[in-house]
Amino acid sequence: MPTLDARLEAVLDLIRTDVHADIGSDHARLPVRIIWGSRASRCIAVELNPGPLEQARRSVARSRLQDQIEVREGDGFGPILPGEVGSASLCGMGAHTIRGILERAGGRLPPALILQPNDSALLLRLWAREAGYHVRAERLIAGYWPYPVLRLEEVSGPDPAYEGVPLDAALKYGPLLLRAGGEVIRSQIEADVLRLSKVAAPGRESWDELETAKTALAVLDNRVK
Ligand SMILES: C[S@@+](CC[C@H](N)C(=O)[O-])C[C@H]1O[C@@H](n2cnc3c(N)ncnc32)[C@H](O)[C@@H]1O
Repeated sequence: MPTLDARLEAVLDLIRTDVHADIGSDHARLPVRIIWGSRASRCIAVELNPGPLEQARRSVARSRLQDQIEVREGDGFGPILPGEVGSASLCGMGAHTIRGILERAGGRLPPALILQPNDSALLLRLWAREAGYHVRAERLIAGYWPYPVLRLEEVSGPDPAYEGVPLDAALKYGPLLLRAGGEVIRSQIEADVLRLSKVAAPGRESWDELETAKTALAVLDNRVK
């Protein structure tokens, strides 16, 4: 059984559906573990590039799971039919790339998405509010960087996750992560405050970023509800 690093273990933990698509699957370790763990009955692994595509096919064959995992070549949700999957994961890419894939998906988007960008999830939280997805779960995994992991679900109306938390801080650091607190997010925000304090000046973008980081720290300290 393939091992997963901590960020993909966190992604796995947020998946439970009938048919799941892993977009940008590369080594396809996640789909293999999804099937082994009975978190879905079928998986579709999508890959754009020939090297990773071949690697995904080899990994699925090695695991003898060809009946449950189908590897498809293509760009983002292109190879997925509308309504075909209950959820999809997009992991290990930059937030900009992930958002581009989501924006191009149109009616092929499933009702649940598990996203793990390698950088700030701000762009994805902004996208989710526009696209009608609520933040249902968030994790922050310590690693080379702190890796955010989000589970989004398509629901109409305002997202209750943002109720009672300062919006700028919640969009940048995660509404549920700020509520949950903990060492990983505290270290991340403290590092931002330290870095931004050296460069921030009134009128610069870094000034607003510093204010956002200080507000986030105040939320963690329960000084802002
Ligand atoms: C850094 S790897 C991450 C692999 C795996 N998801 C993980 O988290 O370990 C990103 C993968 O996404 C694939 N990829 C990038 N853009 C894609 C797209 N538009 N559609 C499908 N796959 C894509 C790349 O070829 C690469 O294999």
